[in-house]
Amino acid sequence: MEWGLENRIASIIKPNNNRALMLAVDHGYFLGPTEKLENPKKVIAPLLKHCDSLMLTRGVQRTSVSATTSTPMVLRVSGGSSIIGDDLSQEDITVSIEEALRLNASALAMSIFVGSKYEYQTIVNLGKLVNEAAKYGLPVLAVTAVGKELGKDARYLSLACRVAAEQGAHIVKTYYCENFEKVVQSCPVPIIVAGGKKIPERDALQLTFNAIKGGAVGVDMGRNIWQSDNPVAMIKAVRSIVHGNSNVDQAFKLYKKLSSGKKQKNKSNKPNQNKSNKPNQNKSNKPNQNKSNKPNQNKSNKPNQNKSSN
Ligand code: R5P
Repeated sequence: MEWGLENRIASIIKPNNNRALMLAVDHGYFLGPTEKLENPKKVIAPLLKHCDSLMLTRGVQRTSVSATTSTPMVLRVSGGSSIIGDDLSQEDITVSIEEALRLNASALAMSIFVGSKYEYQTIVNLGKLVNEAAKYGLPVLAVTAVGKELGKDARYLSLACRVAAEQGAHIVKTYYCENFEKVVQSCPVPIIVAGGKKIPERDALQLTFNAIKGGAVGVDMGRNIWQSDNPVAMIKAVRSIVHGNSNVDQAFKLYKKLSSGKKQKNKSNKPNQNKSNKPNQNKSNKPNQNKSNKPNQNKSNKPNQNKSSN
């Protein structure tokens, strides 16, 4: 393998243990302001030092990540459809190689939609991206996207992962499933598992543990970290499995300990201003605007993004 390519892959999959912890924050590229990722800068800042690499779009990289970071960037270069459009599978390559190099990307990421209407277009785009990226030693991560009509079982995911690897993807991101070992065994390149919809923290840690045990090199997790009530505690707990070989009980214990530590700290650092020093302005002087005047925008106005996304 060429030095540049090998070096970039080694910055994503750590060579000392062949493991990877990627933080995914690219959801806005088709979901818009995803719940709890409305302000990517605020979300990313406290988590950045705990992940091995960050998966994101160029827009979020430019606006919401400090250029002084040493964390490698896995740049999503595909897009073109949104959650409210006709067909999510209609994606093209939207970022040039020159732009990716300017942004100092360590890898390029794009989705393929195997079995969808736009299967041909997305698979050919993967092949072409690998051709272009190869000129500069840039690795390509293929995301095996799933949709309403696409499967999520070992048979389907094995097919999708293998197709991605055959086109030259250096890393494949897919979903955990029953008989996941079969997916890994039939894919000649490293597999990283996506977190998927938010589930209880212990379940997300179990998923991480199962994925590693099943042969994945790591996880590329988004919602189950930043939609957690305690994102830093959660990423540290996930990290303890990926890099520390913790089991699920140990990782969950760590999550709870770090979460309760945070609560204690908050309690001891802040005096309760409402009770002691100030009159409760909300109760006495102002109407509760949230309750009476404004609709709860998250609940009422937006499509349920979690349901329609993966
Ligand atoms: C999906 O296509 C996006 O690329 C996300 O990066 C991916 O789904 C991982 O994020 P999550 O853990 O929230 O599923």
